[in-house]
Amino acid sequence: MSDKKALYEGKAKIMYEAEKPDELLVYYKDDATAGNGAKKGTIAEKGIMNNKMTAFFFGLLEKEGIKTHYVSMPSDREMLVKKLDMIPLEVVMRNVAAGSLAQRLGLAEGTPLAEPIVELYYKSDELGDPMLNHYHIQVLKLATPEEVAAIERTGLRINAILKDFLKQKKVDLIDFKLEFGRLNGEIVLGDEISPDNCRFWDSDTHEKLDKDRFRRDLGNVEGAYKEMLRRLTGEER
Ligand code: ADP
Ligand code: TMP
Repeated sequence: MSDKKALYEGKAKIMYEAEKPDELLVYYKDDATAGNGAKKGTIAEKGIMNNKMTAFFFGLLEKEGIKTHYVSMPSDREMLVKKLDMIPLEVVMRNVAAGSLAQRLGLAEGTPLAEPIVELYYKSDELGDPMLNHYHIQVLKLATPEEVAAIERTGLRINAILKDFLKQKKVDLIDFKLEFGRLNGEIVLGDEISPDNCRFWDSDTHEKLDKDRFRRDLGNVEGAYKEMLRRLTGEER
C-alpha cells in the first residue's frame, strides 16, 4: 500500500491512485462511525467482510444489467474500481420503516411500507447530510433532472433485485443507502453495499444483522457482519 498515493481518506475507506488513471484502489478499513462521526470505534475484520460483501452484491447487480464501478478484488481489503465523477447525493431506499423515517413520521420500527420510498440527502459532513427534494437539487446544481430520474429508477431496480435475492437468504432488506457517479455520460453505481449502509433483519427472528448493532450498542457487532457474509457467500470471513 505504501507506494501508492492516497487521494482521499473517508470514514470507512481510503481511495488510492491505481495504475490506470481511470481507476481507483479502494482500501476498506475496520473503522466504524455513527451519527456523522460523533461515535467512533472499530469492528474487527469489517474491512475484509465489507469488501467481500460489496464485491458479491456488485457482481449480482452486474449480472442483472446494473452498471457498477466494480473492476476486481486484488486483495481481501482492496477493491479496484472505475473512477467516477461522484454525485454528492446519498440515495436511501426503504421498504420497512426504521431509523430516521420511523422517527420523522412517527411509525413503529418494522412497519412495512406499501411501496418502496426513495429519499435523497445532500452528502455533506459539514451540513449533516440534509434531506433534499428535486427543487433543491436543481438550485444547487448537483445533478440534472434526467440524472435524478436515472438515479431513482436504478435505485428502485437495485432495491427489487436485492430484496428478492436476500429473501432467499432469510434476510429482510429494510433500507439501504447508495451513491452514484458519472462515467462517459452514464449513471454508474459506486461506493459500497454492506451492513455499514444497509439494514438487514433476519426474516424469522427480526434480529439486526447490520451496523445498527454498533450504532445502538446492541453487542455482537462482528458476529452480525460475519453472519451476513456467511449467508451471502458461505464464507466465514
Ligand atoms: P465518507 O466519505 O462518507 O467518509 P468513505 O470512507 O466510504 O466515505 O469514503 C469513500 C469515498 O469515496 C466517498 O466519499 C465516496 O463518495 C467516494 N467514492 C466511492 N466510489 C467512488 C468511485 N468509484 N470514484 C470516486 N469516488 C468514489
Ligand atoms: P436512516 O434511517 O438513519 O436515515 O438510514 C437509512 C439507511 O441509510 C440505513 O440503512 C443506513 C443508511 N445510511 C448510511 O449508509 N449513511 C448515512 O449517513 C445515513 C444517515 C444512513
